[in-house]
Amino acid sequence: GCDKEKLRVVFMENGIDAVIHFAGFKAVGESVAKPLKYYRNNLDSTITLLEVMNEFGVKKIVFSSSATVYGDPEELPIKETAKLGVTNPYGATKLFIENILKDVYISDNDYSIAILRYFNPIGAHESGLLGEDPSDIPNNLMPYIVKVATGELPHLNIFGNDYDTKDGTGVRDYIHVVDLAIGHISALEYIDKNKGIDYYNLGTGHGYSVMEIVSAFSEVNHVDVPYEIAPRRDGDIAECYADTTYAKEKLHWEATHDLTDMVESAYNFVVKNNE
Ligand code: UFG
Repeated sequence: GCDKEKLRVVFMENGIDAVIHFAGFKAVGESVAKPLKYYRNNLDSTITLLEVMNEFGVKKIVFSSSATVYGDPEELPIKETAKLGVTNPYGATKLFIENILKDVYISDNDYSIAILRYFNPIGAHESGLLGEDPSDIPNNLMPYIVKVATGELPHLNIFGNDYDTKDGTGVRDYIHVVDLAIGHISALEYIDKNKGIDYYNLGTGHGYSVMEIVSAFSEVNHVDVPYEIAPRRDGDIAECYADTTYAKEKLHWEATHDLTDMVESAYNFVVKNNE
């Protein structure tokens, strides 16, 4: 995405009406260790993309932002109008890009921009053909659980059980990747007909704790997930889940997959792909 000439060729060879911009580095911990890598890649690629879109008169864009822009939320569930604040370079790149898009819109009201704030995407396509199976040690909860279930990793470390939550472990709004994908289609359909810039939470509105995720995974998939309680992870917050009203109202979109679908499809993907 940083190669302007190649991007121009893509725009020249295809009749592009709208862009979904997913590209970017996404590991929080790595962004703290290598901030310049994150700023260079995530911001440069976006600016290049926006310049090329401008050259070709393409003014519709859906951008993958993150619930990370809410920082440690003051109120739950989190509304799109909540106060923003980021705590790491990865999050800062998401917020910068949101602001760049806002300025682009202010400069030219012909743009249609949908900013999607993802909560915690997990799961896989039910076919078992599309999913995640990282080759290195996963940072995120679900891919880590999967590697414990398959025996690749000995046990899960639960980062803290002394948070002010239902069982002391961290609470997040996990959303099935297929629901997330459908949310992009809804956003695309919306911006195709409406100019402006707007922000949408893509979550389910339900908060599940780490313990609840581990239990559901074991029960649904009939597999052991040994775990140990470990210290809190730096930068983690206690609780985060979405108010989903706005996306329902404006995009006519809501998540339909439940926790069972999410943990089942996540495991099914690795089982199928390791056969
Ligand atoms: N957790 C563990 N053990 C692990 C991994 C995670 O206990 O090995 C816990 C975390 O402490 C947290 C929960 O599981 O309570 C979820 O952690 P993830 O790393 O899966 O997800 P995060 O909520 O930390 O981060 C996600 C995305 C980020 C995004 C952030 C903010 O990965 O890109 O949500 O919304 F910035």
